[in-house]
Amino acid sequence: MRKPLIAGNWKMNMTNSETSEMLKDLLSMELSKNVEKIIFPPYTSIDRAVNILKSSDIQVGAQNLSEFEEGAYTGEVSAKMLIDLEVAYVIVGHSERRTIFAEDNKKINDKVKRALKEGLKVVLCLGEPQEVRDADEQESFVKKQLQKSLEDVQIDYTKLVVAYEPIWAIGTGNTCNPKDAEAMCKFIRQSLEELADKDTADNIRILYGGSVKPDNIKEIMDRENIDGVLVGGASLKSEDFGRIINFEVEK
Ligand code: 13P
Repeated sequence: MRKPLIAGNWKMNMTNSETSEMLKDLLSMELSKNVEKIIFPPYTSIDRAVNILKSSDIQVGAQNLSEFEEGAYTGEVSAKMLIDLEVAYVIVGHSERRTIFAEDNKKINDKVKRALKEGLKVVLCLGEPQEVRDADEQESFVKKQLQKSLEDVQIDYTKLVVAYEPIWAIGTGNTCNPKDAEAMCKFIRQSLEELADKDTADNIRILYGGSVKPDNIKEIMDRENIDGVLVGGASLKSEDFGRIINFEVEK
């Protein structure tokens, strides 16, 4: 049984005071206990978020980490530093890291290994750009990302979550049709079976991300192979994010 997972990626948004305000509002709402909940604030708000959420069931993750252990890497943040802040999860391979910050599959593979080695759980993001979708090559593109990102990684469904985020659906309002999102998540599950085994593939959570909103969450979550969502813009507003968490009672 895969527990639904609703995650909010705040990207480079939210000062410390905005973090306090947003999370206090969120905690004042009655939130579903049936879903696992994670927020990914910027590094600077992690400590604040952990403290505010301490006695709640909302976990805190980081949006990135260094592939290196420690040392002379100016501007980087290590897995150990995140663990010390009581961070549970880290996002690796987000398309904004891949495209804007030129992170390739090798670097992403190193980051996945570093995170797992130090005891962080990983949300590994995959997804194709528009031109790959136009050429109907999304399956081979995403499969290659999956294989390369997980090269020499012992896949454990309790420590790894995969997020399918087609680049053309991120921040555009152009949500992937739930039928197409389901087809890709199913394809990723089949590919995981080749990389690991059936039990792992059956139990691993696969999320969809890209313009998820309160008014489309229900039809996305209705799909068999979609176990949750990674939400960007709509996770910045407590009311919208609360409604997404409570998708079962919406409508
Ligand atoms: P939006 O929900 O703003 O499209 O962002 C999705 C995303 O990139 C989450 O990681």
